[in-house]
Amino acid sequence: MKSIPLKRLLNELLEFDHLEGTELQQNLVSWLDKNVSYYNWTGFYFMNEEKQQLEIGPYVGAFTDHSIIPYGKGICGQVALSGKTFEVPDVNAQDNYLACSLATKSEIVVPIYANDKLIGQIDIDSHQLDPFTTEDHELLERVAEFVANRL
Ligand code: SME
Repeated sequence: MKSIPLKRLLNELLEFDHLEGTELQQNLVSWLDKNVSYYNWTGFYFMNEEKQQLEIGPYVGAFTDHSIIPYGKGICGQVALSGKTFEVPDVNAQDNYLACSLATKSEIVVPIYANDKLIGQIDIDSHQLDPFTTEDHELLERVAEFVANRL
């Protein structure tokens, strides 16, 4: 059973307390990428309410054509509308999906709320099928909260 060292990672997360904004986000995507072998594209998207689109933030992984995603499109765009975590164990089973890399087999998108307002999301693509556990959900929810408190 694959599992991430959740306790250690939640403790390490606190070490980023002195950072904020883009610098914090850059550090966090590198840290997540280094610590979880099946996170193969790790990045942030932020909402542009006026344009009704997601705009890419710091990320680690292959270059993506999807630097802008209209609300409703793909897994990310669906989360922009639902405001809820969306775990996709097998991306090939999804109709409304935007492929970044053919190597991607699964994806998880976790919303970021600042003062109860949906402002963005963390997006993880994995080259493994169905790798995410409750620990991944908890880790990513905590990272989302951490970022929201330090924009
Ligand atoms: N797969 C995403 C697009 C973003 S890339 O994964 C970085 C989606 O379907 O929304």
